[in-house]
Amino acid sequence: MHRRSVEDPEGFWGEIGRELPWIEPFTEVLDWSEAPVAKWFTGGKLNASAICLDQHLALRGEKKAIIWEGEPGDVREFTYRELHAEVGKFAAALKARGLKKGDRVAIYMPMIPELTVAVLACARVGAPHSVIFGGFSAQAIRDRVEDGDCSVVITADGGWRRGKVLPLKQEVDAALEGYEGVHSVVCVRRGENEVAWTEGRDCWYHELMDAVEEPAAPEPMDSEDVLFLLYTSGSTGKPKGIVHTTAGYMAGAYLSTRYVFDLREDDVYWCTADVGWVTGHSYIVYGPLANGATVVMYEGAPTTPHPGRFWELCEKHGVTIFYTAPTAIRTFMRLGDEHIAEHDLSKLRLLGTVGEPINPEAWIWYHKLIGGERCPIVDTWWQTETGGIMISPLPGVQVTKPGSATRPFFGVDAGVVDEQGQPVEDGKGGYLVIKKPWPGMLRGIWGDEERFKETYWSKFPGLYFPGDGAVRDEDGCFWILGRVDDVLNISGHRLSTMEVESALVSHPSVAEAAVVGMPDEVTGEAICAFVTPRKEIEDPDALEKELIIHVANEIGKLARPKEIRFTDALPKTRSGKIMRRLLRDVAKGAEIAGDTTTLEDYTVLAKLRGDEA
Ligand code: PRX
Repeated sequence: MHRRSVEDPEGFWGEIGRELPWIEPFTEVLDWSEAPVAKWFTGGKLNASAICLDQHLALRGEKKAIIWEGEPGDVREFTYRELHAEVGKFAAALKARGLKKGDRVAIYMPMIPELTVAVLACARVGAPHSVIFGGFSAQAIRDRVEDGDCSVVITADGGWRRGKVLPLKQEVDAALEGYEGVHSVVCVRRGENEVAWTEGRDCWYHELMDAVEEPAAPEPMDSEDVLFLLYTSGSTGKPKGIVHTTAGYMAGAYLSTRYVFDLREDDVYWCTADVGWVTGHSYIVYGPLANGATVVMYEGAPTTPHPGRFWELCEKHGVTIFYTAPTAIRTFMRLGDEHIAEHDLSKLRLLGTVGEPINPEAWIWYHKLIGGERCPIVDTWWQTETGGIMISPLPGVQVTKPGSATRPFFGVDAGVVDEQGQPVEDGKGGYLVIKKPWPGMLRGIWGDEERFKETYWSKFPGLYFPGDGAVRDEDGCFWILGRVDDVLNISGHRLSTMEVESALVSHPSVAEAAVVGMPDEVTGEAICAFVTPRKEIEDPDALEKELIIHVANEIGKLARPKEIRFTDALPKTRSGKIMRRLLRDVAKGAEIAGDTTTLEDYTVLAKLRGDEA
């Protein structure tokens, strides 16, 4: 199948595309004439919410679509029929508030069923959603709402996290202060916490729903109509709105969920990601629901109220497929194996990981302790930009290797090249590239076509460059080496060093800042910031704390530096560029390796290392 999928992609994808329920069939599988902007399944009309809901009513109406558990332990379940009704109603409510096809909607919510409802309701109306992870700060919300020109925001009063209610509506209020572009803020009641109210703009979800008379039918969308924007970090200070369209993205999410997770009718599938990230889009919402799967959704933190929380949920809900991140696995490894032994995990039959390279030690632990040495592990490599899984074992088909994402998925033609774009020998490191268009590929960066071409298509003309390094071994298995640009991967979340640097220099005490990643046992990578203060600092500890809070306010808690080192000067080249490579060595306490001949002032480096200069 794989050979066919890369030798005859149009034949292969044409068949897969026809498995989706179309309102009007497509006429052409791939139009690559405007490369690198692909068009897939052109001429057809469909609706993503109908793929996820309406098509299942006949055969799976009474099947559970969502089994949700809140952090405090409250459980809610939705059958496909119930979810369909809720989504149709909410879509109608949004239309009644004036939302139209093509308008953008920002969603800033806790992990509650209404988040999935909101996403699917937007798809039903044909209004692209832009989900903003609930951990982002007011400033980050504002940037995204403005960039996407969103006219509606959907949020909640609060959501449970680590035993407390996080006040989400409050962040939205702060984000929208002095901003006129949003006409409606829809608020779901969840946290029961006090919220401020802007009359005319704010409305309760439950009140809107009560007023609906007729649920909304799915809007017929063109294959290439935008389904969603999702912001992610690149190597500049400004996050980019990755654009995904309807048919290609859905075909990719549908097929990859089916094969990579070997989905069967009676599976109970749990992906622990947040819908605020692409993993949640493709593998909590669109992929599993397109396949009619039963999806477990959990609101809270993995270790609240006790370290065995995830395993308790697996046992209680009979989870058979479990998909999580290496950073979570490493956290559980440290918490101690006794929390696992207390729970019956015998229903599990397949495990997955995503977000960063998994170290073999964590892979083996996952295999033994969670998988009982019986469950295959699918280590899935992909990105926000790719829309769905690109490199992964097919369980039961391929021999897995701890630490390798193994082989390209159907339709994915991957390779490893050198600086000149020439293929490197197997076993040698290089740049990962994708050689052919695939249905779920991003169609652009919102409002910035040049940046799209420049970021992904200019390093190696004609090839998609994801920004990762890789090795392919003699068996054809890929080993992802991590980012080769200024993008950090903290607990599987992407952040650019420049974003954190701009946040730091926006503080009045900071003259200059350089941010690098340093290895961290749990989060994979952690942020180390080198900061040159404007004037002599009296209390470095106090300033360090203040700066950490400042970064959290500017971006969100996930961007907080683990360590801040104050320095009089940063190592620079003679032309004034900060030499991050040297700082990375300093941060990990390693010997300075490589060339330092372009360094302008050697004493700077000596001081940073703590040598007697
Ligand atoms: O560096 C790769 C790493 O995560 C990046 C994509 O991040 P994001 O768009 O936030 O999406 C994360 C979830 C799909 C990639 O460029 N990455 C993701 N999965 C893996 C990985 N690195 C190694 N192995 C993986 N399985």
